Amino acid sequence: MRIFLTGGAGYIGSHTLLEVLSQDHEVCVFDDYSNSTPESLRRVETLTNRKFKTVEGSVLDPQCLTQALQEFKPDAVIHFAGKKAVGESVEKPLMYYENNVVGTLNLLRAMEAANCERIIFSSSATVYGDPQFLPITEDHPLGATNPYGQTKLMAEHILRDWAQSRPTASAVILRYFNPLGAHESGRIGEDPNDIPNNLMPYVAQVAVGRRDRLRVWGNDYDTPDGTGVRDYIHVVDLAKAHAAALGFGETHQGCETINIGTGRGYSVLDVVGAFELAAGRAIPYDIKPRRSGDIATCYADPAKAKRLLGWRAEHDLADMCASTWKWQSQNPDGYDS
Ligand code: UD1
Repeated sequence: MRIFLTGGAGYIGSHTLLEVLSQDHEVCVFDDYSNSTPESLRRVETLTNRKFKTVEGSVLDPQCLTQALQEFKPDAVIHFAGKKAVGESVEKPLMYYENNVVGTLNLLRAMEAANCERIIFSSSATVYGDPQFLPITEDHPLGATNPYGQTKLMAEHILRDWAQSRPTASAVILRYFNPLGAHESGRIGEDPNDIPNNLMPYVAQVAVGRRDRLRVWGNDYDTPDGTGVRDYIHVVDLAKAHAAALGFGETHQGCETINIGTGRGYSVLDVVGAFELAAGRAIPYDIKPRRSGDIATCYADPAKAKRLLGWRAEHDLADMCASTWKWQSQNPDGYDS
């Protein structure tokens, strides 16, 4: 298959790129490197010993996008390019709506111009808002609590209406839970530009000495140890879910929404403990007040992914911590190392 990957140089994009190349697909990566670096692509090329096409461009540039799609003529698109920081989305909502919503519209228009009708979209468990029941199934009520989440919901609506308007189109919306970990080689991984907001990159930077102490946002939740519980999913499992969705999209028509999680929740202190074991060093932390907008517990019902994609997560928390540590210890300053 010919696969067009927007945002293919980013954290989830680069792991998915590696996975689809190892399955012999032809790939074109379209990325503006606004929150990534071409170094991740060079490393994937070395790891897979496969060549692929790259186009530097933004999803906010319809002409560039259309030209890239018309030249490459993909069978399917995987759309990762988007902004993903919740706090930043509250400060800069227009930037988020523009990148994530207008960017998705531009992409669909460009796909129409290139006669491509299959898309896999990166959505997030954030669209479930504060969980009303657990585990979360795909028919759980939706509601975003910040502009980032709204952009994911809006893009989902657009994709659903688009697929409905075209009898032979396929849109597969993957709602990720909390991605962690890195490729087993330690050559590619998560490389946040600024101070990390998410738990794992922060823990990893404490372990490697780039940050002093982890701040644990609240230990008074109604959870076994009082800290927040999430469904952490290994990024390599997540990449494999995209490869499975590509196969599914070949015969599927319409729009399907699928949770990508493990079905198991771990607390912040579970993650800290597992990371300490993997890295063989202590992670000092302080308990701080709750972070605004955080929820107590969130984990997926992944049964639909098994049923439709034949996919389930294979890596456990120990694997996620070990691979993160390998990446972080070998690349203490990320791709600049
Ligand atoms: C966050 C976003 C979510 C987004 C996801 C992408 C918020 C409120 N939610 O999810 O919309 O889809 O990232 O990956 O930002 N924690 C600490 N100390 C830290 C960082 C995190 O204690 O320095 C705790 C949090 O309180 C939470 C858990 O670790 O209980 C996971 O946090 P995080 O990695 O930021 O993910 P989410 O908040 O679940």
